[in-house]
Amino acid sequence: MKKQELTLSFNIYDSLESLNKTDVNLIEKARLSTEIAYAPYSHFHVGATALLKNGEILSGTNQENASFPVGICAERVLLSIIGQLFPNEPIDTIAISYHDFNNTISNKPISPCGMCRQAIHEYEIRTGNPIRLLLTGMEGEVYEISGAESLLPLSFKGETLKK
Ligand code: THU
Repeated sequence: MKKQELTLSFNIYDSLESLNKTDVNLIEKARLSTEIAYAPYSHFHVGATALLKNGEILSGTNQENASFPVGICAERVLLSIIGQLFPNEPIDTIAISYHDFNNTISNKPISPCGMCRQAIHEYEIRTGNPIRLLLTGMEGEVYEISGAESLLPLSFKGETLKK
């Protein structure tokens, strides 16, 4: 028997002040895009904004449905947009924020759900490039994760399907 330990290390910024202009711009766009989320059931509006390696900036928001499982998270809407408009273009950074209309202004960083972690990581594998994540709310701390893979240890990968 051997023991394996995995550690997750990431940076926490108190506010936008310690981040550079590019990151601040991405976070502001993610926060703004929450306004166009379609979330009439949860009232939890999520915005995800990506900076691609080619300099393009694109956003996605969650799109819910009366048949709840049909709804899609902001991150996977974003990845679909990127996969369609800029196939195989590496993603540098994705900023994610949210506004919860059931509560007061969000001030704790959002954490992408497991399905989105799987989808983001597959995009990392597809492009051979780690995707940096900036996780935040409408105000407060920002978590900087250097690559999405670290959020999904022992992930299921396409190579497992290969004979
Ligand atoms: N949601 C996202 O869009 N991204 C996340 O990272 C977590 C959850 C959405 C799904 C659903 O529309 C709402 O937030 C409440 O779960």
